[in-house]
Amino acid sequence: MKTRLRNLRQTAGLRKLVRETTLSPDDLVMPYFARPGKGQRTPIGSMPGQFQLSIDELVKEARGLVKTGVGSIILFGIPSSKDPKGSGGFAKNGIVQQAVRALKDALPDLVVMTDVCMCEYTDHGHCGILKGREVDNDATLPYLQKIAVSHVEAGADIVAPSGMMDGVVGALRQALPKTTILSYAAKYASAFYGPFREAAGSAPQFGDRKAYQMDYGNGDEALREIRLDLEEGADIIMVKPALAYLDIISRAKETFGCPMAAYNVSGEYAMIKAAGERGWIDEKKVILETLTSIKRAGSDFILTYFARGAAAWMT
Ligand code: PBG
Repeated sequence: MKTRLRNLRQTAGLRKLVRETTLSPDDLVMPYFARPGKGQRTPIGSMPGQFQLSIDELVKEARGLVKTGVGSIILFGIPSSKDPKGSGGFAKNGIVQQAVRALKDALPDLVVMTDVCMCEYTDHGHCGILKGREVDNDATLPYLQKIAVSHVEAGADIVAPSGMMDGVVGALRQALPKTTILSYAAKYASAFYGPFREAAGSAPQFGDRKAYQMDYGNGDEALREIRLDLEEGADIIMVKPALAYLDIISRAKETFGCPMAAYNVSGEYAMIKAAGERGWIDEKKVILETLTSIKRAGSDFILTYFARGAAAWMT
């Protein structure tokens, strides 16, 4: 035996020295849910530790986040009313638009990303304009342009289209030549989004999202989605969910070598919290192992509800 791989594992110091993947707060993006009102912190039942926040509370929360070293957030909105065309999504004084303005006022250096989708704003809960019982792809694109433009006008740094409409990146690129686009390029129709839909009140009122989000049996198709989005002008591409799709993250990074994000989604959060609360796993260790694995797979940064807690452990 000439080569003994255990040599480098003998002490914590040696292990640290040769560790290939390390985490820093710079790698994390914290998702927040903005709701109307003042002084409101509405707990989300299936996501212990997460809240729907009124804008004043959101600003307080973001100030605390920045102190832990995390410099980026992604915003979702819970509007006060919904309609078939999701008008709350592009209203000048919509909940996300107001939240972005307040956050950029209070914390100009905070990187504010916005989720560009219609499901939180439509009364039917689908991610676009309906024609009969189907989401009409091309009729939806102008609405997504309006939503993204309204976010950028409010001060958003990055727009993140998440509705899996064909051609959305090209449409946003045309409307916003100089804005950073983070495309939810490979987004699977996943049961792991369950808690988010409770948090955002965005569950479809009929059917499911399988006619626009991807089938979880498919890997090659994810690369085709990503290739198209890069051609259309995406700056960063995302794979979502993260944990059950580490192979996709890894193949995408190897194939395209482009900036990449992964979304450690609500169901992934809920599972770890639930097992942690019962004492079945060591929550902190599982979180750090999980986030490191997502980065090791090839993701440059991670959208995760653990961002605030985990960053505090890293510094
Ligand atoms: C909006 C959107 C969803 C998520 C992010 N953006 C929900 C969905 O597609 O149903 C899920 C995030 C999570 O589960 O944490 N389309």
